[in-house]
Amino acid sequence: MQLGLIGYPIAHSLSPWIHNRLLDQHGLEGEYQLYECNAEQFPYQMEKLKSSKINGFNVTVPYKEKVIPYLDGLDEAAKFLGAVNTVKVDDGRLIGYNTDGQGYVASLLNRYDDALKPFDKVLILGSGGAARGIFYALLKQGIKKVDVANRTVEKAQQVIEDLQVQSTSEALSLQKAEENLSQYDHIIQTTSVGMAPEINRKLISLTDIGPNTIVSDIVYRPMKTSLLKEAERQGARLHYGHGMLLNQAILAFEIWTGKSTNASEMLKAFEEKLKGE
Ligand code: ATR
Repeated sequence: MQLGLIGYPIAHSLSPWIHNRLLDQHGLEGEYQLYECNAEQFPYQMEKLKSSKINGFNVTVPYKEKVIPYLDGLDEAAKFLGAVNTVKVDDGRLIGYNTDGQGYVASLLNRYDDALKPFDKVLILGSGGAARGIFYALLKQGIKKVDVANRTVEKAQQVIEDLQVQSTSEALSLQKAEENLSQYDHIIQTTSVGMAPEINRKLISLTDIGPNTIVSDIVYRPMKTSLLKEAERQGARLHYGHGMLLNQAILAFEIWTGKSTNASEMLKAFEEKLKGE
């Protein structure tokens, strides 16, 4: 199996650790390599990958959209989102998939199996690619009410318009969201705010969250962000970002190899790896 990742910058990516472990665990020979390239090198790198013996690769920032013209087909999620994080090479044909949102949902349900009931009220913070992927996956999961709050409210509105056919969701400013937090069962932070090295930053304050609320942060460096620390002080249930990273990778690996993996077993080793960084 020849696998890899294309993006920039990717030197500190955890994907090689995950996928090389998955290869090992399933007794498959091969390796997962990094194909770091800048925008100028990207077309050449894609042509090189196409003519190589690679079986599949992941795509990360800033190429999740730019990769699409090089592909021969897209799965439903990738088509709907206009973004690809996984490419499978099948007899020279390149098919694009997007496992980000599904990876988020899988990681959440692994941690809290009572999460995501159809009438739960969910709030997504942020309106970038990660927010879109999660919004789409939540709708697929049957959640009716997914509000989106963003610094730029128009972008939040755009996410809802683009992805929800029958809209019951609302776009909010961060301030408005902060004032109305108590009505949500589940809050999902999808921006990079709070990521190392700026670990003391927080997108909003969680003073008003209700009891038993689940708070997810997709940032995984650090594992417990300032936002999650505050959620903990408020007695909320915490859902960490590294679970999404692991699960989107497990789903990509399954697309390439047909092999499924128990995420819970691997999560502990992954946590140790992250703590040791
Ligand atoms: P990705 O594709 O990785 O999800 P992105 O497309 O760069 O990332 O989106 C970044 C998201 O983080 C956006 O919602 C952005 O808000 P704006 O749409 O207003 O730009 C949000 N974001 C980034 N830095 C922020 C900050 N300092 N304060 C508030 N929101 C921020």
